[in-house]
Amino acid sequence: MIRRLAVLTSGGDCSGMNATLRAVVRTAIARDLSVVGIRKGYTGLLNGWWEDLGSRSVSGILQRGGTVLQSARTPEMYQEAGQQRAAARLSDCGADALVVIGGEGSLKGALALHRLGIPVVAIPASIDNDIPGTDMSLGVDTALNNIIHAVDALRDTASSHDRAFVVETMGRNCGYLAVVSAIACGAEYTIIPEAPVDLEELCVNLRQRFEEGRSNSIIMVAEGAGSAQQIAERIKDSIGFETRIMVLGHYQRGGAPSVGDRLLGSRFGMGAVEGLLAGERGSMIGVSCSNLVFTPLENVAEGGRRPIDRLLLRLAVTLGR
Ligand code: F6P
Repeated sequence: MIRRLAVLTSGGDCSGMNATLRAVVRTAIARDLSVVGIRKGYTGLLNGWWEDLGSRSVSGILQRGGTVLQSARTPEMYQEAGQQRAAARLSDCGADALVVIGGEGSLKGALALHRLGIPVVAIPASIDNDIPGTDMSLGVDTALNNIIHAVDALRDTASSHDRAFVVETMGRNCGYLAVVSAIACGAEYTIIPEAPVDLEELCVNLRQRFEEGRSNSIIMVAEGAGSAQQIAERIKDSIGFETRIMVLGHYQRGGAPSVGDRLLGSRFGMGAVEGLLAGERGSMIGVSCSNLVFTPLENVAEGGRRPIDRLLLRLAVTLGR
């Protein structure tokens, strides 16, 4: 029986984590559970950094980016000794179950704790949107809104000069942010790790476009596919056009969460607690065709990355021409 629930945010932060935390805490309290918030992810768990959370502890956080519990990446959780220590620490804080809010590495930690007998449900949070078992992870929608806000502004200045702008989005191994923002901003080219682009061909196309009178271009590149700086230099060296770059970096991960992320986080938070109470164990909540679904953590944490939607890529390429 679950009486006391622990919750932590882990790995790279994203907007919507606070909305999720609020939903976890308030749903748990509504179901007569007590809640303990672990600070700084698994690192805080290993170090005993926790505090009781009540309904008022999560007031005024829904609209804030980042995570009030703070987050960390915790290499010890990849080692068996660290995992066992974390499981022992959970009983030290009196928790009977755990909700983990985080990305790829955090889900692996959650799976390890599940295998050590801890009742755990995870919530996918990563702007990369490469976690399998969910159409959408937390933070993606806000990150996309951040990107289009920046690129729309860039387009204004790009159109005042004859320039190519290379914009680097996050996405270590995945081009989702680059592809979707390219569609939403009308970028001319998209370079992602899943679909390598011949830069020589890109330069030839760019020159043709400029000769046809299309005097500015936006090239979206996912960080995993190369650096904006190198690509801009290559374009400049190859065709001599003025290029400028914008590396969006961590700006993408912050800021007030979008409506989409507030809603998704609230649904995930409530769903995770209700799932645990209904007997869900060792699974991740996700959304599929608008419905909440649970997927075993094995399939998520050990099942490879969610592949890029080729239809979205085709859309970005076709509409950019
Ligand atoms: O996985 C999310 C992510 O934002 C990646 O897109 C990016 O490469 C990475 O985290 C950055 O990590 P850090 O915040 O540790 O620099």
